[in-house]
Amino acid sequence: MKKTFCYLFFLTVCALAFAAEPKKVNWSKLANYDESKIPEYTVPDALVAPESGFKAETAIEWYTFVRPEILKLMQRDQYGFMPPRPAKINFELREESDNALGGKAIRRQIRINLEDLGGKHHFDVLLYIPKKSPKPVPAIIGLNFGGNHTVTSEPEIFLCEKWMRNVSRPDMTSRLHKAFDWQRGKMASRWPVDKIIERGYAFATVYYGDIYPDYEYEDGSPDSIYQIFSKDSGFSSGPATIAWAWGNSRIFDCLETQPEIDKRKVAVTGHSRLGRTAVLTGALDTRFAAVLGNNAGEMGIALSRRVYGETVGLITGQFPYWFSPNLNKYAGKETELPLDRHQLAACIAPRLLYVAIAEGDKWGDPKGEFLGVYEASKVYKLFGSKKIPAMEDFKVGKQFIGDGMGFHVREGPHDMNHTDWGYYLDYLDANFKPRTK
Ligand code: GCU
Repeated sequence: MKKTFCYLFFLTVCALAFAAEPKKVNWSKLANYDESKIPEYTVPDALVAPESGFKAETAIEWYTFVRPEILKLMQRDQYGFMPPRPAKINFELREESDNALGGKAIRRQIRINLEDLGGKHHFDVLLYIPKKSPKPVPAIIGLNFGGNHTVTSEPEIFLCEKWMRNVSRPDMTSRLHKAFDWQRGKMASRWPVDKIIERGYAFATVYYGDIYPDYEYEDGSPDSIYQIFSKDSGFSSGPATIAWAWGNSRIFDCLETQPEIDKRKVAVTGHSRLGRTAVLTGALDTRFAAVLGNNAGEMGIALSRRVYGETVGLITGQFPYWFSPNLNKYAGKETELPLDRHQLAACIAPRLLYVAIAEGDKWGDPKGEFLGVYEASKVYKLFGSKKIPAMEDFKVGKQFIGDGMGFHVREGPHDMNHTDWGYYLDYLDANFKPRTK
């Protein structure tokens, strides 16, 4: 009797403990992956101003009357407004070597110090510049997920002291959310820095959590760049994606102080949530000459109205603090979204827009991404592009390079790897024409 009681007591405790544990939702299982189940939808015309209904017939008309309306509504209803440049910004050189990457590169580690009426914040740039290439050189910037020390294995790279996202080893040390020596170079498969340098490009990166910590399921804005702004500025808190985009713009400010960089040839890239951040950055900050959006998916390039793979409902359900709260009302009502991704992509025109996705990234919707590019190409055409993508150009393993726009679908899973970089560098070479000797 006593034994049975103990056993029942044990079972009750287990059941209560299990009930108290927050249930993990399998978001991917909630998605539609069946083309025949896509609801009927229309695609807003990228040439038409979403508020006034004005239809542009020339590039100048589009740039003057349509683009500003798209960007205003995109920020107000979807991503949140881009915070202003801070009142004070300075670039502190913390370390420099002219013998980095086996003698191929100059390395600089620069702290960007930010200050405004609400307080201070800083984040750290890791910059490599090819030594031999004639100056100035074009540059590529990209935020990283794991810390600057994970991008190359050089022991001189400072470990970030802020909250770190886990990389590669899911053990007790990674649960501490700290940067460790053993992580050096662990994300190098995403960043072939040697190759980038050999091809004549400078490369700059920042750990994204240094700008806005991505606590996943929790708002990181009190520990982010928003803390520099005063309460009455309207920017003392806000969503993550636009904050990361703001960070990209500050990296550009930093590159403007580096004499070896050709400021007319700077590309912004990133993978996944940081790929969509790259697209948003390029749409808003016209100093960037090129955008390379890697697996940017939902809210990046893939048409939201298609309701395939991740949707507005699924992304806002999982990561509500990534976007403006105004986006939530379209959860489950994606076909009613007033603005879709191709309109954001079009805001990069006539600058270079290259989009890549992995065939296996069904969650990110490869076809939806292609359609995003395809629909935005109307605007590129208005700017004079002759070679724009056609539906036949959507082929796995084949790169499309048009006038301004480019695209590839790589075989394999959701990632950014050396194959993607091969395509990216070929595309940039064709446009930026870097000199290696
Ligand atoms: C999740 C999220 C995506 C995001 C991805 C990533 O899968 O749903 O929207 O792109 O994480 O950034 O790795």
